[in-house]
Amino acid sequence: MEFSDLIRTRYSVREYLPNSVGDDTLNRVLEAACLAPTAANRQPFQLIVLHTQGKEKDLQRIYEREWFTRAPLVIFACAVKDQAWTREDGKSYVDVDVAIAMDHLILAATELGLGTCWIGTIDQQAAREILGLPDGVEAVVMTPLGYPADSLPPKERKSLADIVRYERW
Ligand SMILES: Cc1cc2nc3c(=O)[nH]c(=O)nc-3n(C[C@H](O)[C@H](O)[C@H](O)COP(=O)(O)O)c2cc1C
Repeated sequence: MEFSDLIRTRYSVREYLPNSVGDDTLNRVLEAACLAPTAANRQPFQLIVLHTQGKEKDLQRIYEREWFTRAPLVIFACAVKDQAWTREDGKSYVDVDVAIAMDHLILAATELGLGTCWIGTIDQQAAREILGLPDGVEAVVMTPLGYPADSLPPKERKSLADIVRYERW
């Protein structure tokens, strides 16, 4: 798929078929995250792949919606804070790195006909407990991964004129 089509095809899928995702397909999606650029190439993230079957109640403690537990898989993108590059003024780029990795993963999934949805509403305490996260590791975003049972809605976006300034603010 052309990149210009890919970014128009991706949308937040909130209805999933029960069909499982094959291991080869899953690995292609995960490999896309490995290829993401990260600040100073620190790669300060870990992905946790969780099979949802039988874990629905646990998952709903992390995010109290049911729809995302109907996908066969959920992937958590976790920040490993002490591995991240930090700018001289103290700003950590860990969230940026995690987001780029997740975006690579999500676009690769889209290319393979899979559905995803960025989810940032993560109950941190529940995630720590259920995923067994050690100190210094944070589940920043997650996505369900499975085959869509809905279809692409129209995109609602600001116009270029609303978001682009030239030369200065
Ligand atoms: C960082 C981030 C966090 C998000 N968190 C949630 C969420 O917690 N629940 C949800 O249903 N959608 C969530 N979304 C999806 C957005 O609502 C969605 O991307 C946006 O409305 C644009 O729609 P589209 O993805 O279909 O293009 C999140 C998206 C991003 C990028």
